[in-house]
Amino acid sequence: MGPERLEDINLSDLDFWRQPWAEREAAFATLRAHKPIAFFDEPAVENTAIEFPPGPGYYALTRHRDVATASRHPDVFTSGPGAVSILDLPPEMVEYFSGMISTDNPKHARLRRIVANAFNPRNVAAIEDSIEVLADQMIASAMAQGTGDFITDLAAPFPLEIICTMMGVPRSEFATVLRASNVILSMGDPEIVPEGTDAVLAFLEAGSTLTGIMQELGEYRVEHPIDDITSALVNAEVESERLSQQELASFFVLLVTAGNETTRTAIAHALVALSEHPEQRATMLENYDAHAKAAVDEIVRWASPVIWMRRTLASDYTLSGVDLSAGDKVLLFYNSANRDEEAFERPEVFDVTRSPNDHFGFGAPGPHFCLGAHLARREITVMWRELLARAPGITTAGPPRQLVSSFVNGITHLPYEF
Ligand code: HEM
Repeated sequence: MGPERLEDINLSDLDFWRQPWAEREAAFATLRAHKPIAFFDEPAVENTAIEFPPGPGYYALTRHRDVATASRHPDVFTSGPGAVSILDLPPEMVEYFSGMISTDNPKHARLRRIVANAFNPRNVAAIEDSIEVLADQMIASAMAQGTGDFITDLAAPFPLEIICTMMGVPRSEFATVLRASNVILSMGDPEIVPEGTDAVLAFLEAGSTLTGIMQELGEYRVEHPIDDITSALVNAEVESERLSQQELASFFVLLVTAGNETTRTAIAHALVALSEHPEQRATMLENYDAHAKAAVDEIVRWASPVIWMRRTLASDYTLSGVDLSAGDKVLLFYNSANRDEEAFERPEVFDVTRSPNDHFGFGAPGPHFCLGAHLARREITVMWRELLARAPGITTAGPPRQLVSSFVNGITHLPYEF
């Protein structure tokens, strides 16, 4: 049984994240009902020789409305001290995580503008055909095998190829990029970073691998620009200065990590959900095009691939009656906002026709709202359109293996058959 009692819930304990989804969700329901802004000590840093200064702990925002308020007030709830790590990272790690996601205005807006164009709806629609060709190829080779691991056959390589192609990464480096981005996003999972390995060193090594790839690509694109994201990055100027090598590297790390694990997670959770809810599959099969838009948003709500983002208070603020002080850390639990009874009718039901669906899977409205949301929606739409058209009976053939992580609601293995 999961921790039903408030005092047993500890979001900083990795064992909490090893529980089945239903038990985690029950715990978040308890938090929303009884302590929607709860304080937790920092998680212990394990498997590393690197010393971290002890942190002050954080408040967990578990309600839809509090997450919305924090996102709407970026002047108070800032991202600069770090949006993707609970700990304040030592300088050698910030290097890889100081991309725009951990930046505030005015710099954030300037960084975001450099790449925003590539991800706008028009430019994403323009690559739809190539996304479809890729999905078809991958599905055809999976069908030839007949069965396998849905993650390694389809869910992982699909978004990887798309973002790498958009960045101009050569195909020979795709596997390296996948390995490195897995390590960066899944520090807690012994399958990705084996026990006995220094997790932080593995993380730094993965960061420098990606940096190396970016440097090589970037140098070439300074001289030979084409219409790809890397050319836009290396030739962009912020305050009439070129981005530094470090800024370029963190951009690259952010785009490949943000663009990979997340979409993979949504596509994989969709297989689990559609296998468990045949009536929802039937609805989609009946008229995919009519249902795709609502269904894809419901998949993202249901999966909540990114569990939280962090903000740090720039000034004192009273949030729903709780006095927060300058310097306090808060985590915006999108997974919990997406199950909030106040914001959704029957949030525990997977309903591909759900409308309205004001979910925070891509973050809540605010300056950091997912840059890749149009791309991600397109990828999920195309992959599931092609899957259901060619293999309407595709189903799980065993239980999913959950990624052990508080940050990404990932699935590392998912047996399937057609
Ligand atoms: C289903 C897939 C995806 C999910 C669930 C997702 C989720 C998120 C979330 C929750 C945020 C943080 C929002 C905030 O703090 O307010 C975010 C930001 C971001 N996402 Fe996504 N994402 C997905 C796909 C993608 C893709 C395909 C890309 C493409 C590169 C991408 C790039 C980014 C970037 C660059 C940011 C930082 C934006 C900023 O700080 O201004 N994401 N995403």
